[in-house]
Amino acid sequence: MIGRSEEYAKMFELEGQLWWYRSLHERVETALLNQFGNRRDMRVLDAGCGTGGMLEFLRKRGYTDLRGIDGSDDAVTFCYERGLSVTKVDLKYLADFEPKTQYDAIICNDVFCYFTGLELPPLLAALAHRLKPDGVLITNNNAFNSFRGQHDIAVGILRRFVLADFTPLMPAAGLQISQSIYWSFLLSPLILAMRQWQRLGLALGWQTTETAKSDVYLPSAWLNETLYRVSHTEQKLFARTPFGSSLLMVLKKSQ
Ligand SMILES: C[S@@+](CC[C@H](N)C(=O)[O-])C[C@H]1O[C@@H](n2cnc3c(N)ncnc32)[C@H](O)[C@@H]1O
Repeated sequence: MIGRSEEYAKMFELEGQLWWYRSLHERVETALLNQFGNRRDMRVLDAGCGTGGMLEFLRKRGYTDLRGIDGSDDAVTFCYERGLSVTKVDLKYLADFEPKTQYDAIICNDVFCYFTGLELPPLLAALAHRLKPDGVLITNNNAFNSFRGQHDIAVGILRRFVLADFTPLMPAAGLQISQSIYWSFLLSPLILAMRQWQRLGLALGWQTTETAKSDVYLPSAWLNETLYRVSHTEQKLFARTPFGSSLLMVLKKSQ
C-alpha cells in the first residue's frame, strides 16, 4: 500500500462518507465506550492511522488526547491537512517511537495484513507493551480468504485472517482476546459475490494485477446509505456473528 498515492487520496476523500468506514468508526467508538464509559480524555493512539479518518471521527465525538502514526508520507501529509497530531513511524520500529509513552487505547485497523507471519508476533508484543495496564488494543482486520479480490491486489494485502490465526499469538504478546466479531454478516453474500466476480475477471484476463482497483469508491447515495443502515442495524442487533469480510477484536493485557 505504501507508495500508492492514489489509494491514499481516495481514502482521504471518502472515509467520512463511505458506509464501510462509517460502520468501522462506530464499532471502534462502541469498543471505547464499553471500556471507558463517557470519558473522552484518555490517551488514544491510532497505529497505522492512514489519512486520519478514524482520528477525525473521534475528535468530532469529543475525544481530546489523540495521536496517530503511519509509515506513509502520503498518509501523514493528509493527516496534517486535517490538523491531526501524526508522526511518520514504521511500525516495525514502534519501540523507538516515544518509548516511555503508554496509551489507554491503541487502535490498529487493517494494518496487520501488511505484516508477514514472522513480523506479526513482534508487532503485537510491541503494541501490548505500549498499553497501560488497563488499556485496550482495538483492531479490525481483513477476514476470510474467500473475500480475496481485486481490492486485495490494489492495496497490497498480503493475507486475510480468521480468529484462530490470532488465538495462538496472544500469550507470547501478553494479550488476551476480550471480544471478537466478524462483520458485516448481513452484507457478506453481496460482498462475497462482488469479490468472486472480481476474481473471475482476473482469472479470465478482463482485469490484470496492474489495472486492479480497490473497493474504496462511493456508490450512489441511496445505495451507500442503505448499506450503512444494514451494517448499523446489524451492529445493534448482534453481539457475535460467524462470518464477514472483517474481524474486529478488542484485546486486553493479560493479567
Ligand atoms: C488499509 S490502510 C488502513 C488505514 C487506517 N488504519 C484505516 O482504517 O483507514 C493501512 C495503513 O497501514 C499503513 N502501514 C502499512 N505498513 C506499515 C508499517 N510497516 N508501518 C506503519 N504504517 C504502515 C499504511 O501506510 C496505511 O496507511
